[in-house]
Amino acid sequence: MPETVPGAAPWVRIRDAARHVGGPVEVRGWVTHRRSSGKVQFLVLRDGSGLLQCVAGARDLPAEQWEAFGTLTQESAVRVRGNVKTDARQVGGVELALTHLEVVSLAPEYPITPKEHGVDFLMDHRHLWLRAPRQQAILRIRGEIVAAFRDFMAAEGFVLVDAPIFTPNACEGTTTLFETRYFDERAYLSQSGQLYMEAAAMALGRVYCLGPAFRAEKSKTRRHLIEFWMMEPEWAWATLEDLLPLEERLLLTTIARVLDRCREDLKQVERDTSKLEAVKAPFPRLHYDEAARLLREAGHAFEWGSDFGAPDETLLSSRHDSPLFVTNYPAAVKAFYMEPDPADPRLSLSCDCLAPEGYGEIIGGGQRMADLALLERRIEEHGLPQQAFEWYKDLRRYGSVPHAGFGIGVERTLCWIAGLEHVRESAAFARMLYRLAP
Ligand code: 4AD
Ligand code: MG
Repeated sequence: MPETVPGAAPWVRIRDAARHVGGPVEVRGWVTHRRSSGKVQFLVLRDGSGLLQCVAGARDLPAEQWEAFGTLTQESAVRVRGNVKTDARQVGGVELALTHLEVVSLAPEYPITPKEHGVDFLMDHRHLWLRAPRQQAILRIRGEIVAAFRDFMAAEGFVLVDAPIFTPNACEGTTTLFETRYFDERAYLSQSGQLYMEAAAMALGRVYCLGPAFRAEKSKTRRHLIEFWMMEPEWAWATLEDLLPLEERLLLTTIARVLDRCREDLKQVERDTSKLEAVKAPFPRLHYDEAARLLREAGHAFEWGSDFGAPDETLLSSRHDSPLFVTNYPAAVKAFYMEPDPADPRLSLSCDCLAPEGYGEIIGGGQRMADLALLERRIEEHGLPQQAFEWYKDLRRYGSVPHAGFGIGVERTLCWIAGLEHVRESAAFARMLYRLAP
């Protein structure tokens, strides 16, 4: 319970102030603006839940509080009490007529001003930039997306099983491994929890993990983070065909929930929500062969057998309003664990989901290799140490069954849903090629 003096005004969040019209309340927050018209002083406070205008005349406050009011600077912290009044002109429809003002912390000149700042300056001050209304909105949408993911998986009967971060082996190729020491051993930061989820799926049937993943990728793009969050469901007895409807339901549920619960935040980030409302099931599907043909017809210098670049993904996905499933990628451009396509062994039972409006890949997944001998060959071909994968191979020794799963990137999904141009805004403290601080 919040600490309040018995009988005194209850501490309310600004979002809830309108429910206390006429009554006294206490609000705790930070100053965004102050202005004065001589006899009356105004203050706009924020507390993370909204903005509230506070107003006082000289006779409403004790002399020393009236004096202190005049010294308040941007981002000073205050506790105020007053009576809530209806005022249709204000955000939230109310204003606070002050009877008490306590300065908790007077801030020196704040580095972030309403004038335009460069991106590097803002990223250097990320710890303060988070207080901007746009950044708050993005973080709230992110929180809602993750909550939607978790609730969806639980409703589908998937058990949350967290994967370790320190790992002895690669999952997604050796070129992007972050190496570290684990006492006297060499260890890597996890690129993906998938292999562990495969083990857990053989225990629980349907599982998922949601946590950080690390890629030592020297890519400086609008989509790449060095540290990102990923949710990875893994489903025993499922095939590629089972996976796509699950992904579709996950995305539709998530969008619907964000549209429902984050209207104000989507407005704050100026998202064209009609684009999200246009997303409909079933999502279009495109076989890799067909995608390759479309790209060449559109004049892209695309070689069959290679992976798609960002401009290729943009072209393919911009043909539709809904996310696009691209299936059956060549095994050579995917990780070692992909099940071969029985229709063409050069291909794999894999699927990426590309978000519309040029956002590109947000989900990667597929059916896992069930055969032990073939798995051993692939580990060899990928130059991976057999020894580190003995435990993983056990999953093929003891009751191997078809199984499938996918990984969905939290930040990439957020970029699409909130319409962000760059991943740097999609994490509270994004880790990028040239950015480790603050
Ligand atoms: O396609 P990826 O690399 O797939 C895997 O890691 C599989 N093991 C997942 C699985 O099947 N369990 O990554 C999956 C998703 C991508 O589609 C993207 O959304 C996100 O993770 N992702 C990144 N997000 C930001 N920055 C990066 N460097 C990312 N790499 C992958
Ligand atoms: Mg991928």
